[in-house]
Amino acid sequence: MSLQLLISVIAIAAPIVRAGPCDLYSSGQTPCVAAHSTTRALYSNYAGPLYQVQRHGNGKTHDIDPVANGGIANSTDQDSFCDGDECVITIIYDQSGHSNHLSHAPPGGNGYGDGGDGYDLQANATAAPIKIQGQKVYGVYIAPGMGYRNDQTNGVATGDQPEGMYAVLDGTHYNDGCCFDYGNAETSNDDTGNGHMEAIYFGTSTGWGSGAGSGPWIMADLENGVFSGQEIAQYQTDPSIDSRFVTAIVKGEANHWALRGGDPTSGSLSTYYSGPRSADGYNPMSKEGAIILGIGGDNSLGAEGTFYEGVMTSGYPTDETENAVQADIKGAEYSV
Ligand SMILES: *[C@@H]1O[C@H](CO)[C@@H](O)[C@H](O)[C@H]1NC(C)=O
Ligand SMILES: *[C@@H]1O[C@H](CO)[C@@H](O)[C@H](O)[C@H]1NC(C)=O
Repeated sequence: MSLQLLISVIAIAAPIVRAGPCDLYSSGQTPCVAAHSTTRALYSNYAGPLYQVQRHGNGKTHDIDPVANGGIANSTDQDSFCDGDECVITIIYDQSGHSNHLSHAPPGGNGYGDGGDGYDLQANATAAPIKIQGQKVYGVYIAPGMGYRNDQTNGVATGDQPEGMYAVLDGTHYNDGCCFDYGNAETSNDDTGNGHMEAIYFGTSTGWGSGAGSGPWIMADLENGVFSGQEIAQYQTDPSIDSRFVTAIVKGEANHWALRGGDPTSGSLSTYYSGPRSADGYNPMSKEGAIILGIGGDNSLGAEGTFYEGVMTSGYPTDETENAVQADIKGAEYSV
């Protein structure tokens, strides 16, 4: 079924239920193999848990579900469970059915966390409140020292296999540390060389590539280099982001990758780079298929940022599919 037909069928059959981002990727033949969000379900029929919180005082854990199939997170449930105590986010569940859940990242070659046994700290569950469709939900507020990871994934691209990914982030929460990433990384928690990662980066790092103005920029962390274009360099085509919410996109296939972005509350997506890979160890790629959030591939812990939702796909999504996903995020009505 074509994307347009699917949208029409869903619109006719059930005016209230929209196709979620992962429904759109599925109909584009590039299904989600990981789908993470603390704010909402990313499939129109998803009814499982979105994330797990843990109380500081008694150590008890509790899953937070959507209020309805395909709905937004039940933040009332989090508030009543945490009940004035401090809570952290312990698990961000994978909604795709591949069990690619994220939990606190283990120590790595360049980062030994303060969360016990070298594991990273976990995000404060109430530090990033926002609204979806007028209702309060919570994002994942990553301060330096915090990070999430899964080194034993299912279905995520390895080697030179094609993949896509997007993340909705807070465009005003960033720093120049390494590295606020979401995406594909090493399974060993170590830097294993050029081309061993393919992840979204967001921030003002100028240690590798950079973009126009003073940032922050959406870039691609491909390991041993954060890229805004073909080589590790400054590219004026990668703009500074100045919106409260931003959709960031990285996708890659054989000797080709692309960087896209846009404000999901008002605008469409723009393409900041689409072209060949650097010949300096990035063609072919050596992706390993772990998933990271808020850290670098070697568990570099210096960065900060806020994550609301994101997915990784199998296959290289079309721009058309991603534009439909951006329209869906706009329909979710992110606001402060
Ligand atoms: C949300 O959580 C609250 C508190 O646990 C619960 O009373 C309520 O029924 C939940 N809402 C829905 C729609 O499940
Ligand atoms: C968690 O965030 C809330 C809201 O910003 C804040 O009041 C609280 O002090 C934070 N807790 C910790 C341990 O930082």
